[in-house]
This record gives sequence, C-alpha cells and structure tokens, in this order.
Amino acid sequence: MMKLWGGRFTKSAEEWVDAFGASIPFDKELVQEDIEGSLAHVQMLEYCNILTEEEASTIKTGLHTLMEKAEKDELEYSVQNEDIHLNLEKLLTDEIGPVGGKLHTGRSRNDQIATDMHLYLKKHTKEIMDNIKQLQQALLGQAGQHVETIIPGYTHLQRAQPVSFAHHLMAYFWMLERDYTRLEDSLKRLNTSPLGAGALAGTTFPIDREYAAELLGFDAVYENSLDAVSDRDFILEFMSAASMIMMHLSRFSEELILWSSQEFNFVELDDTFATGSSIMPQKKNPDMAELVRGKTGRVYGNFVSLLTLLKGLPLAYNKDMQEDKEGMFDTVTTLEGSLKIFSGMIETMNVNTGVMEKETHSDFSNATELADYLAAKGLPFREAHEVVGKLVLKCIEKGMYLLDLSMEEYKTASTLFEEDIYEVLKPSTVVARRNSAGGTGFDQVRHAIEKAQDKVQEK
Ligand code: ARG
Repeated sequence: MMKLWGGRFTKSAEEWVDAFGASIPFDKELVQEDIEGSLAHVQMLEYCNILTEEEASTIKTGLHTLMEKAEKDELEYSVQNEDIHLNLEKLLTDEIGPVGGKLHTGRSRNDQIATDMHLYLKKHTKEIMDNIKQLQQALLGQAGQHVETIIPGYTHLQRAQPVSFAHHLMAYFWMLERDYTRLEDSLKRLNTSPLGAGALAGTTFPIDREYAAELLGFDAVYENSLDAVSDRDFILEFMSAASMIMMHLSRFSEELILWSSQEFNFVELDDTFATGSSIMPQKKNPDMAELVRGKTGRVYGNFVSLLTLLKGLPLAYNKDMQEDKEGMFDTVTTLEGSLKIFSGMIETMNVNTGVMEKETHSDFSNATELADYLAAKGLPFREAHEVVGKLVLKCIEKGMYLLDLSMEEYKTASTLFEEDIYEVLKPSTVVARRNSAGGTGFDQVRHAIEKAQDKVQEK
C-alpha cells in the first residue's frame, strides 16, 4: 500500500515495522480534536484566499461527514496510515476525492498534533476542575453536618488534641482549592495555539494564525514556531498538578482506610464503594479508596516518564514525542475516575459519631489543656508540663483518664486546680476554645465553611 508520504521511497515498510511506528492505536482518541483543528485550518485557508470557496466548502463537508462517523464510531483506521492525521486525510480523500489533499496546505503533522493535544487538555482540564468542585461540594455537605462532631486529632499518628471532624474534612477542601487554582492558572498557558508553526519553521503561504486560533477558542498563538512544535510543557504542567491532586486523594484514601478499620471504626463507606472477600464472609474492604491510593503511582509515573522523554531532545519535533500521548490519556482517565469515585464515597460515607465521641473521652488529648490552665494561673509552663505529666502517669497506673481523677487528687498535685477543670477538660471545651484564626474552634469552623461555600459558588 502506497504511503501518503511515499514519493521518496522505493520500498514499502514491512507490516510489523509499520505497527511499531504507528500511533493510531492510541491517538485515535484525538479524532474529534483533529477534525476540529482541520475545520479551523481550512476555514483560515479560505479566509486567506489560499483555497477557493468551493474547495474549502467541499473539504468542510467531508470533514463534517467524518465527524458524524467518528461520533458513531464508524471510522475504520489502519496501522499502515500510521496516525490519526494520515488516517483522517486518507478517509477524507476517499470521501471527497483528491481535493482532500489540499487540506494539508500550509501545515504539518507537527503543528497539527500539538494543536490536537492543546485542545484535548483544555477540554479535560475544565472537566477535571468541575470534578474537583463536585468533590468540594461533597466535603462541604459532610462538614456542614459535623461541625460539632469531635475526633481525636493526630500528629505522628499519636493522639494529639481533639478536633472538629468538619475541620479535618475541610483541610482536604483547601488542598483541593489549591489544586483547582493550579489547573485554572495552567489554562492561561494552555490556551495558546501552535497551529501554523508548520513542521518547525513556519510556512510560505500567507496564513493568518490568529484567525485560526480564534476559531479554535485559543486566546494567543505561540511566538516561536520551533517552540510551538516542540513544547510539551503544557502536558507536564497538567501532569504535575495531577500528581499533586492524586497525592492529596491518596492521603485521604489512607485516612478513610484507617477510619474504616475495626481498630478505628470512625466511618463506614457505602456498600457501593466497598467489596467483600471471596473467602472471609465478615469482610468489607475499602477497595475504591485503596485503588485511588494505588493509582497515584501511575500518575506520578506518567509525569516522570514524560520529563525523562523530553530531557535529551534537540529541537524541534522528534519521533520520541509520539510517546507523550498514552501517559497523558492515562492521567486524564485516572484523575477523572478517582475524583468521581471520591465524590461518591464522601457523599455517602456514614460517620460513626458515637464511636468518635467515645474515643475522644478515652485518651489524654486534653492534657495540654491542663498545662495551659496552670500556666494561665501563673505557674511557669515548664513546671505546669511536669505537674500534668505526673498526673498522666498516675492515670495510666490506675487505668483511668484525666476527667476521672478526684478534686482531692488534683489539689494534691497543685493547689491552683479548682472545680472548673472538669469543664475545661471536656473535649467539646477543648475544641471550642481553639478559636484562633484557622483553628478548630467551632466558630472558626463555621466561618471557614461559609468562606468555602462562597469559593464554590464563584466557580
Ligand atoms: N504521530 C505523530 C506523533 O504523535 C504525529 C506527528 C508526526 N510528525 C512527523 N513528522 N512524523 O507525534
């Protein structure tokens, strides 16, 4: 079979070599973007009088037919035609005759593929931003119901100080807010058109790059044609933001997995997001959270792969760059899937408030309160720390907690203790009093939720 670029060749490649070089098995994902790009290109060629109105109109009709067929999954691709661009050109020529060959005037597959990927990522970045927003809404829904639900707060995975459960959930809201704005910011650079850069040097035809860019919804064109065809920063930027989002989701997954263990028992994930064991009938595994944690690895991998792929490449286009696509598709699919799973998981999560309540009464996470109490009455904090440390030790020996000690025992430890310590030591008091900006005090948390709601509404 004759190649579309076969003029210079005397021998045709063997099929298995074609198969190795082809990208059609995966770049067919870009069919819509490729046709959109071609529609804008042909419109520009007509506008600049490079093609006649008649030629352009025949090509456009052909492209629309291909788009309809693509939507119905009716296009038949072949590995011999290497990639999505050559496959579509062949299909177009089959459809409308040799005039189809005029579509490629003043462009190259190099600026074409770069354009396709910009269009693809633009669309998916917006979708992912929307997925983030939905997860934020799910978090706000749960947070709104659990401002006064208290859980142990941890450092070093050791109980530290009690916190509002809503406060804990809202920590993820703000991580996602940064993720959202990172993607939003990347759109500024992503929204630049490489089309018209040609193979690497521009073209002799009197094209109008701005016009084509505008048709495609880009708000700028690349300033340098070499940069336009060899730049993959926009994918790296996306993958870097994606890696951070997955890292956030993975940390959250880890907490959900811990919380749904028998040891914690803080939450129960809905049946939809859990699975049973084929052998142990009692089990309910938090599979979806584990999978998100696991999938984080491939998103990092795709990022590192592309960085590595690019590091030694001279300008401009090199065939190595064909390897940029599968990782990008995989990252998009993984990220969209993980965010959707998370929204569902959080929305339907059952919170075991009773267990949380009981747990916050069964630890020493109110010990700082007691030391602060003494310090506020004038005892140097170091000494207060020592007094409370001894009381904790005493409790451990007796198998009890600070709230169980008698007034007499407190008085023996320090005469500064008064009846009011029992109120001070209550987990709800402990939380409520941490009313500094951004702290877990109930008023602060309510305020943070309101602020967060405004953020989401602005989107
Ligand atoms: N299939 C190619 C890729 O994905 C398209 C660009 C090819 N350009 C070329 N001169 N071979 O990178």
